[in-house]
Amino acid sequence: MQDACARPVNYLRISVTDRCNLACIYCNPISPSPRLRHEDILRFEEILVIARAALEIGIRKIRITGGEPLVRKGIFPFLKKLGSLPGLERLAITTNGILLPSSLDRLQDAGVHQINISLDTLDPETFFRITGKDAFHEVWTGIEEALARKSFIIKLNAVALRNVNEKDFSALASLALNNNISVRFIEEMPIGHHHHADHRPVLVQEIQDSIGALGSLTPLPSDQLDGPARKFTFPGAKGEIGFIPALSRHFCHTCNRLRLTADGRLRPCLLSDISHDIKGPLRHGAGKKEIQNIFISCLRHKGAEHIFHPDSEGQVDTAMARIGG
Ligand code: GTP
Ligand code: 5AD
Repeated sequence: MQDACARPVNYLRISVTDRCNLACIYCNPISPSPRLRHEDILRFEEILVIARAALEIGIRKIRITGGEPLVRKGIFPFLKKLGSLPGLERLAITTNGILLPSSLDRLQDAGVHQINISLDTLDPETFFRITGKDAFHEVWTGIEEALARKSFIIKLNAVALRNVNEKDFSALASLALNNNISVRFIEEMPIGHHHHADHRPVLVQEIQDSIGALGSLTPLPSDQLDGPARKFTFPGAKGEIGFIPALSRHFCHTCNRLRLTADGRLRPCLLSDISHDIKGPLRHGAGKKEIQNIFISCLRHKGAEHIFHPDSEGQVDTAMARIGG
């Protein structure tokens, strides 16, 4: 599949729930909308129908997101069915890691290749401040156990927050020295209301400066199925460092993604005003061809680029959890 700008689109992010067991300060809408009703959320069987149709027309990688995907009942049998669909080359999940220790066997059994774990700090108190939950040790245990299995690609996502976790960047980055792990720093996007006092964004250049003691960063090539991170290695590292410069550098020209929201809408872009209803047609009997046509139509609406205004808090008043991050 190609969009109107001739970008190949092969990566579908599917949010399976808007619920989460954390309340992170960077992940809240300004005007909190009520949780989606049970009947408004796509059923797993419906997602499988959509995924099968999408894989036939060129999707090769699917990432399951939320909210927190591991809180949804029935997630593991669903992942197993999803993982066995023809055409799927990479099944990935993004999680906050709280439920990881008890999930690893079943994620492995389902054929999940890649686990991205949100971890903004290595300090339990800062963890509590950011997430509202005293659960650093659960997440850390999950990461250690996931790494020990050597069967997943593991990436950590740290959102850079001014005067909250800047002091943690070096320690986080150092994890890539002795572990086969990718540590990614993300510029905080003005989506929703950010419940921390200092909204001045921390841009990638500043993060690079603060982890400079690791040694010089050498760029690594991207894979066709990669998301937006720019990847680097550094001397002696087993793992890598990534940067997601959502504010300071456009990565729209390489965007390869569509998003399916928890309530069954297809979005051409994280920031799009437009989304295409799939759930409605599906529940009214739409077949595979019609679903594929919704994908094609959505691709036509994929804009060339979007722009964040670094100083406009809550530029987009939507819960990240509903779009799927
Ligand atoms: P990989 O498969 O590891 O490349 O994953 P990914 O980076 O695509 O996924 P992940 O869920 O780990 O997201 C990391 C960060 O990238 C999150 O903050 C996402 O919101 C952000 N992100 C992913 N896609 C886009 C995008 O198209 N636009 C913007 N602005 N941010 C994105
Ligand atoms: N800006 C940047 N990244 C964010 N995430 C959630 N909210 C934001 C935001 N406002 C990240 C989380 C998670 C990923 C899916 O999105 O860290 O790892």
